[in-house]
Amino acid sequence: MKLIDGKATAAAIKAEIAETVRTIIDQGGHQPHLVAILVGHDGGSETYVANKVKACAECGFKSTLIRFEDDVEETTLLQEIDRLNKDKDVDGFIVQLPLPRHINEQRIIEAIDYRKDVDGFHPVNAGRMMVGLPCFLPATPKGIFELLRRYQISTSGKHCVIIGRSNIVGKPMSMLMLQKAFGDSTVTICHSHTEHLKDICRQADILIAATGQPASVTADMIKPGATVIDVGTTRLPDASRKSGFRLQGDVNFEQVAPLCSYITPVPGGVGPMTICMLMLNTLEAAQNRIADQSSNPSSQNN
Ligand code: GUN
Repeated sequence: MKLIDGKATAAAIKAEIAETVRTIIDQGGHQPHLVAILVGHDGGSETYVANKVKACAECGFKSTLIRFEDDVEETTLLQEIDRLNKDKDVDGFIVQLPLPRHINEQRIIEAIDYRKDVDGFHPVNAGRMMVGLPCFLPATPKGIFELLRRYQISTSGKHCVIIGRSNIVGKPMSMLMLQKAFGDSTVTICHSHTEHLKDICRQADILIAATGQPASVTADMIKPGATVIDVGTTRLPDASRKSGFRLQGDVNFEQVAPLCSYITPVPGGVGPMTICMLMLNTLEAAQNRIADQSSNPSSQNN
């Protein structure tokens, strides 16, 4: 069994990005600029955004954090998004989710110019991914794909089973694994109402767990020699830790790891790759890789 080291891979990619940025700036180019909008003071969101700002510094990016209180009006947020859409100095921006209940998240996401949507959440980016056009890929699926690629885990023609159908992980991950230019796999998507889940998972060469159900993937769901990717990061109370919690993945690691050829740990697997892919998307935005490119994707479909 080999452990997939997301922490080391993310550090290597951030160093590669920083090198590219140094070259851009040496040649008189524009320093990539990411803006994050944070509404309220949720502990998890504060940590995520602080880590994004820190990653920007590591990559040599400019970053700006814009804060609003919990009771901000939706129209105020929409005005800010409109301003950022037009600001030529801003390459990409994100609105940290979740948002307070009185704000329509989908309306906020759709207000972002898809060419600056470095989260890859805008329906235009989702649709472009579906048909194989250049787009911003959501960070978690992109990070998983990058891990599979860098560890040279063959995916072409393999059976990839994804448990979870969220808009930010399960659905885009399944599309990416299906695309000829990416996973080129045979894909099965399972979810909370799937019958015979264990039988299906046991057929997986690559099993991707993204349910948020701690330790729910057990040894009897694994084909010996499979690659197992654990997207779960549930915070479980743990009085022995300074933070008061520990992170638990969707996979029962002790049971499952001995059966696998490759497995991602939690923490230190998929998690560190996510912010790193946001940085890569921001660099791509700064290099204008997405804007107005429209190659013919039809040859990718057979
Ligand atoms: N909340 C949890 N994950 C994410 C993410 O990747 N992007 C944004 N904008 N909000 C999140």
